[in-house]
Amino acid sequence: MATTTKKAPAKKAAKPAAKVVAKAAAKPAAKNGVHKNGTHTNGAAKVAAKPAGKAAIPAKKGKGSFSEVPGKYCVRDIGLAEEGRKLIQWAESRMPVLMHIRDTYKKSQPLKGLRLAGSLHVTKETAVLVETFAALGAEVSWSGCNPLSTNDPVAAALAKGGISIFAWYGNHEDFYWCIERTIDLKPNLTLDDGCDLINTVHEKYADYARKEVIGGTEETTTGVQRLRARAAAGKLYYPVYAVNDAITKWDFDNVYGTGQSTLDGILRATSVMLAGKTFVVAGHGHCGQGVAKRAKGMGSNIIITEVKATSAIKGILEGYRVMSMDDAAKEGDIFCTATGVKDIIRKRHFLSMKDGAIVCNTGHYDAEINLEELASISKSKRTIRPNCEEYTLKNGNKIFVLAEGRLVNLAAAEGHPSEVMDMSFSNQLMCHLKLAEAYKAGKKLPNQVLDIDESQDEFIAETKLRTMGMSMDKLTKEQLSYINDYNAGT
Ligand code: ADE
Repeated sequence: MATTTKKAPAKKAAKPAAKVVAKAAAKPAAKNGVHKNGTHTNGAAKVAAKPAGKAAIPAKKGKGSFSEVPGKYCVRDIGLAEEGRKLIQWAESRMPVLMHIRDTYKKSQPLKGLRLAGSLHVTKETAVLVETFAALGAEVSWSGCNPLSTNDPVAAALAKGGISIFAWYGNHEDFYWCIERTIDLKPNLTLDDGCDLINTVHEKYADYARKEVIGGTEETTTGVQRLRARAAAGKLYYPVYAVNDAITKWDFDNVYGTGQSTLDGILRATSVMLAGKTFVVAGHGHCGQGVAKRAKGMGSNIIITEVKATSAIKGILEGYRVMSMDDAAKEGDIFCTATGVKDIIRKRHFLSMKDGAIVCNTGHYDAEINLEELASISKSKRTIRPNCEEYTLKNGNKIFVLAEGRLVNLAAAEGHPSEVMDMSFSNQLMCHLKLAEAYKAGKKLPNQVLDIDESQDEFIAETKLRTMGMSMDKLTKEQLSYINDYNAGT
């Protein structure tokens, strides 16, 4: 595998706060075909009812040319690999925490013998994560988690480097075909962004999920919500870490990552002036807060729509206006949904929008803007520029929809910057190291949605700060006893 080993700017080697991987036992018993030390004795022979197995690989529906080695990779054009490699190297140099953890563990190979399948946007940052898993010994298979978020050069570079990857930009028809191909490789760890892989494994291969999968992780707010619903229904068959809920993920990635990359996507798709515009943000959770903050910084006047009173008040105290979508629809120039809920913008809203309104989404699924209803009240539609479609309504007004209502930050731009994905993906990696450690130690984790330890957040935050060259204060002994003194007063 062609992992690049460019040195991270991390100054001083530090061990992750939690000792995440135990040394493998000397002569462990084999379990499900995988020894405790991670070696396979029986290959695929003992794997429970699979996933495809030796059955013929079903045909793809997608048209156009592909670079494909069946069972190994399917990408748009392997000839783009060199371009993709440079992008990956660029990201590596801005992801010092992840590269530091890679350096720390590459010798001990804590993931050796494990097979990890991932379904997550194929970006340059994801490539750094994927190659880190491989550098630590895992066999990795990968697909995208959104039809419009794969960077084809990056996918080509991963394939050329030996990763089993099934992903290309514009993959609408074969989205689940790609996920299935990663399951063909019989993963015992899964990594999700939006639960499509977990759902497929659980719904189609429940027996396999119960018996063969050690655990998984989930990257997004929407995905974690789905997982909690699955666990509450008693239908979660292996433990899954809620990576989204780590402080070093959602306080930074969801807010600052989404804020910057969403505006980046809107600007690349439209080049519209933001100053002076009325910018409606649907949902004032972490992602919506990031979008509103950055749009305000560019001179837009912000309106928030919300269903949760506390989130609405946060908006008011930031100086925004808060109102229902029915009212906001009449005022907005630009609309961005960030709710995780369907039908946020629908027929009656489109009908009351101004001529020329721009509509986009930065929530995980493309369900937030009801495009079927928009089509039903439109007389024509044409592509104006990449990721920008003009709908002409029967009433003569024009509405511009960005990136087909899919994640505008990934479809029209490059997703969150590497610097912030550094922390999110360090969380991903550390959770998989924990799953591997528990498994190799013979410890069964509960089939629940698992929280992230505070020590993991602390380690990632401290390492990040150090790589940024920042120093921090330390409490003195006197300060410590002062804050712990229940009797201290005026
Ligand atoms: N989600 C948001 N931004 C991303 C990125 N750059 N890479 C992978 N997943 C993302």
